This record gives sequence, structure tokens and C-alpha cells, in this order.
Amino acid sequence: RPLVEPPPPLPALHASLGFSLLAFLWTLYLVPALGQTFVKAGLKGRDLLKVYNDDIPESMGLICASIYILLLILFIPFPFSHFMSLSTSEGLAKQEFPHFQLSVYLSSILSILMATLLGFLDDVFDIRWRHKVPIPIIASIPLLMVYYAESGNTNVVVPLPVRFLFGTLINLGPLYYVYMALLSTFATNSINIIAGINGSEVSQALIIAMSVVLNDLLYLPWSTSYRFRLPLYLLGGEADIDVGGVWSAGMAHGSRQLVERHLLSLYFMLPLVGVCLGFLYHNWYPARAFPGDTLCYVTGMAFAVVGIQAHFSKTLLLFFIPQIFNFVLSCPQLFGLVPCPRHRVPRFDANTNLLHPSKAMFERPPSRLSTVVLRLFAAFGLTELTTHPKSGTILEVTNLTILNFFLLRIGPMSEKRLTQTLIATQISGSLLAFIVRYGLAWLVYDG
Ligand code: UD1
Ligand code: MG
Repeated sequence: RPLVEPPPPLPALHASLGFSLLAFLWTLYLVPALGQTFVKAGLKGRDLLKVYNDDIPESMGLICASIYILLLILFIPFPFSHFMSLSTSEGLAKQEFPHFQLSVYLSSILSILMATLLGFLDDVFDIRWRHKVPIPIIASIPLLMVYYAESGNTNVVVPLPVRFLFGTLINLGPLYYVYMALLSTFATNSINIIAGINGSEVSQALIIAMSVVLNDLLYLPWSTSYRFRLPLYLLGGEADIDVGGVWSAGMAHGSRQLVERHLLSLYFMLPLVGVCLGFLYHNWYPARAFPGDTLCYVTGMAFAVVGIQAHFSKTLLLFFIPQIFNFVLSCPQLFGLVPCPRHRVPRFDANTNLLHPSKAMFERPPSRLSTVVLRLFAAFGLTELTTHPKSGTILEVTNLTILNFFLLRIGPMSEKRLTQTLIATQISGSLLAFIVRYGLAWLVYDG
């Protein structure tokens, strides 16, 4: 027993909450304050679904990203303040400093910075798909290296029904790294392609971030007896931690580490929630500011960062259900089977102020593969085809996005309604994710 009790860990989480409030207020203030500066610099866009032609400042995600990254950097000393006070008063050896934790922070910030740069370049130069897809993969290398340094787990628990084939655990080895690298590209691009209506990008990011926060809170040691009481960790207690982790490979590492990882995730997600909330205010219908690709890339990378560093990438993917649906639906257009216009946003009818599904036109008759895929999609009600009355050849197809899908299934609606529908879907997706993760996991995984 040490002579002097170590002081309780300084409540970095409280600091993080304070920083998040700052993030919210700064974004709320700076977005309108800097809007005209962006317009003057040529960073502006026209709102495609309005009757008016005003210049709306674009790439305002750069302001959000700058505030976010600045606050993350200012925050770095806080999780280590406990150690710093110990090392001076108790004369602890400098080697004990948790260098590994620090490298987790630094590599995360580096990846987020790279995503910001890529997003901004995309806003300015409209980078081609084949060029921008690999960049997040490269940006994730620092994260993967840190994962590796921690003798990163590459085992996955095999679901019960197929265990007779593969056994309980399979080691994916390098494939697991490939999967994590792809996660960063998916997270960044999938948000970006549910876009074009006011509030869509930032509300996706906001709900995913809040879902991650909620998930992290489940892992804090609230109390030994009842999970939803005061978090003992904040009070300096060393509670035995009861975690609901079933899938998590982190279980093997002991609960203290699990708590630390989810705290890390909170430190990255809470200010993101602040920034997104502040920005949503200005991006809400009718939008006074556009996020640009910068916001999509920054938020997407932040999700990949916490998913990888805190070891919950599979749970994270569950929060992307609408994005996965939209991605699968988009594949024929993204991979060239079906023409992909520059904008796939719904069609705006100025007389009624309602949105309708927009269409892509075939200039040449579609290939046999495209026809089969589109007929299949149409059979499931995912798209609507216009065919030649005599030959039956497909002439037009509604653009393959979740937004057009809503309009097809529910009927024409206003832009604001469509955003609200997207938000409701995203929230339902997260609810489903929690049910699958914590409610149904026992069906496929034993405790
Ligand atoms: C993605 C989509 C594209 C969609 C576009 C809309 C894919 C493959 N790409 O492209 O189909 O049309 O987003 O953002 O699915 N805009 C609005 N209202 C908004 C937000 C944006 O009208 O609420 C318009 C503005 O003119 C703005 C432009 O969209 O200037 C920004 O488009 P950008 O983000 O550059 O498009 P991409 O991400 O390349
Ligand atoms: Mg975009």
C-alpha cells in the first residue's frame, strides 16, 4: 500500500463535456461569421432544390473540422493530468508515462487531419472517385500501426450456427487490417453519398456520434450494483466492472482497458456531437451553410478512428445501417453499370414545393447484367424503370439512392420532410443496432 493515496483521476470526462459545449458554441457563432469569407474565396454553391439562386457558403465543414481538431489538441493533456500530478509529487519514474495512450491520441488526430485535408481538396478540386477512395485507406495506416503495436487482436468470434465449420475463433490475420482500412473509406464516403438535401450529411453524423456515445456509456463502471448510477470511475473508485461485451475481443484484455478505450471514444465523440449540433442549426432547412465534403470526411474518419482504437468496429458498422443500404443500392451507379449523373439529388417541383424521385437516362441500351440487376431492384421496389413500350428495353431508371427510395415508397414530400424521414430512419437503425448488439447477440454468440 503506497504511503500516500494516489489522487483520484482528474475528471477528464468533465473537461471533455466542457470542450463539447465550447465546440457547439464556437460552431454556432463562427459558421455565420465566416460565411461571406468563404463565398468571397469561391467556396459557394447553389441550393439545387430551391427556387432562389443565392450563393450559399460551401465547405463550411472546414470550420467544424478546425474547431474539432483544435479542441482535440487542447484536450490532450487532460487524460494524462492524473499521471502528471503523480509524477511530480510522488517522484514516479518518467518511464511510466503511458506513451502508448499518447500514441493512440496522436495517431487518431493525424488520421482526422488527413481526412480534413482530403475533404477540403475534394471540395476545391472535385477529385475523381478512383483517386479519392484510396486516400482514407492510407490515412488509416497510423491507426493500424498503433493497433498492431498493442498486439492487436485479429481474432473474430464465429457465430454459433457456423461454428461447426470454423471453430469458435478464427484469426483473420492481415485480412483484419484490410477490413479496418476499408472501414475508414466506407465511413467517409458513405455519409457523403446520402447528400444534397438540407441537413442530411450533418444529421447522419450527429445521430451516429450520439449512438456511439450511448454505447460508450454502457461500458463505464457506473456502479457495482446498478449500472445506471454515478460513474465510480469519475469519483476515483476502482469498481469491478460489469460490461455487456459479448462480441468484443477486448474482453480478453481485462475490464480496466475496456473502460479506458470507451473513455477515449467519448473524448473523440463528445466534441463531435457539439460541432454537429452547432452546424445543424445553420444547415437546417432552408440551409444558410453547406457542409461540403470536408464535414463528411472528418466525421466519417472520426468514426473509423474510435471504431478501430476502441475496438468496436463491428458495433460501429451496426450504426451505419442506412448508409450500408444506400451503398448497396448505389453500387450499380458507383461501379458504372448504370449511368451516374453528377447529382443524384431528388427532382424539385417548384410549383408544389415537393420532391420527386430523379432519374438517370440510358444513352445506349443497358448491358444484360445491368438489365438483370435493375429488374431485380425494381422487383423489390427499390427503383422504378421506364421501358420502351415495344422492345421493353430500359430507357430510364430512378437514381439509386435511399432518398429517392423514400420518395418512391412514401410518395413526393417536401425537402424538410425528407430530411426528417432520413433522421427517423437513422434513429431506428441505431435502435435496431442496440437490439441486435445487446438483445440478440446471445442467439448467435454465447456469453
Ligand atoms: C454527392 C452525391 C451526389 C449528390 C451530391 C449532393 C453520389 C455518388 N454523389 O456528390 O449524387 O448530388 O452529393 O451534395 O451519390 N447541395 C444542395 N443542398 C444541400 C447540400 C448540397 O443543393 O443541402 C448541392 C449544392 O449545390 C452544393 C453541392 O450539392 O454545392 C455539393 O455537392 P458535393 O458535396 O460536391 O457532391 P458530391 O459529394 O461529389
Ligand atoms: Mg458531398
